[in-house]
Amino acid sequence: MCESQTIGHTIFAIILYYKGDAEIMAKFIVEHSENLSGCIKISGSKNAVLPILAASILTEKECLLHQVPALTDVYAMITILENLGATVTFDTKKETLKICSGVLKKQEEEYELAEKMRASFLIMGPLLAKYKQAKIPLPGGCPIGTRPVDLHLKGFLALGCKIKQEHGYIDITTKGLKGANIYLDFPSVGATENIMMAATLANGVTMIQNAAAEPEISDLAAFLKKMGADIEGEGTDTIVIRGVKELNGTEHTIIPDRIEAGTFMTAAAITNGDIILENINEEHLKPIIAKLSETNVKIEMVKEGLRIYRKGKLQPIHLKTMPFPGFPTDMQAPFMSLMTMIKGTSLVTETVFENRFQHVSELKRMGANIKIESRSAVIEGVDKLTGSQVKATDLRAGAALILSALAAEGKTEISDIYHVERGYYKIEEKLKSLGAKILRCEDDNEES
Ligand code: EPZ
Repeated sequence: MCESQTIGHTIFAIILYYKGDAEIMAKFIVEHSENLSGCIKISGSKNAVLPILAASILTEKECLLHQVPALTDVYAMITILENLGATVTFDTKKETLKICSGVLKKQEEEYELAEKMRASFLIMGPLLAKYKQAKIPLPGGCPIGTRPVDLHLKGFLALGCKIKQEHGYIDITTKGLKGANIYLDFPSVGATENIMMAATLANGVTMIQNAAAEPEISDLAAFLKKMGADIEGEGTDTIVIRGVKELNGTEHTIIPDRIEAGTFMTAAAITNGDIILENINEEHLKPIIAKLSETNVKIEMVKEGLRIYRKGKLQPIHLKTMPFPGFPTDMQAPFMSLMTMIKGTSLVTETVFENRFQHVSELKRMGANIKIESRSAVIEGVDKLTGSQVKATDLRAGAALILSALAAEGKTEISDIYHVERGYYKIEEKLKSLGAKILRCEDDNEES
């Protein structure tokens, strides 16, 4: 790619990153919106494209990715990779991204670039596999939890690495990765991805037991296998990777974002709407379809994709987040918004993250009746929510506030929406196309 494009990306990402005033001041103004209707296309998955971008480090050849969403987290990963020496061309209109890591000029990640996005840690495995060294800032916590990386490091140690931790960096070297058997105490998505990527070029066979089985793991494995990796068992709790000598460039289409799809399914339910989602994978949506159906929301496959609509009274339910194929933790906050409007008592138990109820206090400002008892929340359905000034505390909490604001009476102002824009591509435009009254404003000027 030409120099100016690289500079362009970096400038764009730095603007996003350092959150110029306009970004920080940006907010959504949402008014009561009923009966959302129409058809929207779901974008590519944030949580699939981030590890796949990191995996491009494993080859010096070019990779071509399709259905890449222009999310701020995607730009963040692009900037990290460009800073290491990769060249990236991203056509956001066509949603295609060409990336060539070549021979990276360095294997150390800049703190300023890494500290804003935890997924930056995913370059550790590929750097170790390709360059036998990596120096990465220790990821900080975030509003939903402390987010440790001990399971990633347990895997790297087993693969024959030496780990040093000082000055806020994790410095890892190896004389050459050797296959190993690794048991994950928790089926961590990131640890499974990092270890799987590292093992592709290791000498010998690696088995990951109690591995995460999320669809994003399978999409990463599909990408790695197209590059020439030897992987079996992805999508189950045991993944076997046989190391190969080298990996090649390839072409790949990112899977649709199941959490974006679930969020729009919930938007239809909370506004008594009737919408169709195009570009979805029904298999990936099974737990979300199951729990939404339990509330009496109607869901059916139609020729364009998935139709969601309401018929009759909704029922309160008990919800427990679990690793896939359990109900996804990323859907807990958006789903809770719906539950606050269902007559009766609902229960939500969050088993994956220790602090993922940040949205509760903001929902209560809108009139929700929620009581937290350690990792559970007891929700008494209310007849109405009222528009208020609220703040997004993290990505999915922000999505939950948008859903509640659509159902609430009056006008709601949601600030700190940069959290939301990390993971939802043009959410206000997609909602507007379904009839929602939502505006994105910066400072005090109201954008169209
Ligand atoms: C991925 O995060 C997703 N992010 C998260 O999505 C998602 O919520 C999460 O998986 C669970 O599904 C991306 O894929 C970029 P984990 P990750 O490692 O990999 C503990 C969103 O909203 N753990 O599966 O960081 C950890 O503390 C984001 O899109 C360890 O104890 O999640 C947590 O309690 C939020 N030690 C649990 O495992 C470790 O070494 C799940 O974490 C690693 C994790």
